Amino acid sequence: MKSVFFSRFFILLPWVLIVIIMIDIDSKRTIRAPAAGRSSRAQRAARTGAPGAGGTQNQSALPVIYAITPTYTRPVQKAELTRLSHAFRQVPRFHWIVVEDSTARTELVARFLARCGVPYTHLHVFTPRRFKRVGMPRATEQRNAALAWLRLHRSRRDAGVVFFADDDNTYSLELFGEMRSTRGVSVWPVGFVGGRAYERPLVTGGKVVGWYTGWRPDRPFATDMAGFAVNLQVILANPRAQFKRRGSQPGMQESDFLKQITKVTELEPKANNCTRVLVWHTRTEKPHLANEPKHRKDTVVIEV
Ligand SMILES: *[C@@H]1O[C@H](CO)[C@@H](O)[C@H](O)[C@H]1NC(C)=O
Ligand SMILES: *[C@@H]1O[C@H](CO)[C@@H](O)[C@H](O)[C@H]1NC(C)=O
Repeated sequence: MKSVFFSRFFILLPWVLIVIIMIDIDSKRTIRAPAAGRSSRAQRAARTGAPGAGGTQNQSALPVIYAITPTYTRPVQKAELTRLSHAFRQVPRFHWIVVEDSTARTELVARFLARCGVPYTHLHVFTPRRFKRVGMPRATEQRNAALAWLRLHRSRRDAGVVFFADDDNTYSLELFGEMRSTRGVSVWPVGFVGGRAYERPLVTGGKVVGWYTGWRPDRPFATDMAGFAVNLQVILANPRAQFKRRGSQPGMQESDFLKQITKVTELEPKANNCTRVLVWHTRTEKPHLANEPKHRKDTVVIEV
């Protein structure tokens, strides 16, 4: 009896392994081929001057800022995206790439983006459940999907700057004026990260020489996701550079990514030689929903 069981088990084993591998390949394929983005043409056409843009300057000559925002469904999602959009829609030549962690674009985010007044591309890629664990880096698939979209839809002719704009930060409009001139990779301070009031690159003679940080200063690039921008051409010239899932610990993603595309000595310090904080990792407090009924009690369906 036992030997029959074991022989069946060993016959089935390779098939089970093949199925697991196929599922893994499939989830990788969704990352490489994210659903085609939709851009809001009408909104793009309607944009004119904005504060800090230099007034009469010819704006179509400015490099486009591509802000990549991974996002996922949660009670504060729409509030967070709303706060971001209020800053972003005042920035000239701006393109928002919003990547949902979901199996399809959600109605909430699609409706929000259509009305937010910012030119955008709406992507989605689902993080496999086995990666959604404490201690795993987050939003890896979403950021890589945005990079894949840029590599597919932008070329050597396009002037741009790529920036990772998480939805739990607060952005000063001045930050965008600073990052716009990024030729390779630029860096600046970030508020409320690493267990400190701020972290920043240490700058001597206009060059980055180290990091003021409360957490693992031995990281080659001890910066937060919100602390750097990359010229679009650097992204296109390094087609294999991406955020790593395997072997990357949380908090090491930035460093692991930047290692693939630049050197510390080549970093361009912004924000007055990295002495001004223009972005804060504010995070929104989790709302108290203890009295929220399990089943709808209100007479109408209201999107929050
Ligand atoms: C602005 O610059 C672009 C490209 O440099 C040029 O094609 C366009 O004619 C300029 N527009 C104005 C109003 O100067
Ligand atoms: C940064 O430092 C360099 C070297 O000390 C200096 O030449 C440059 O003007 C400074 N930049 C700013 C924006 O203060």
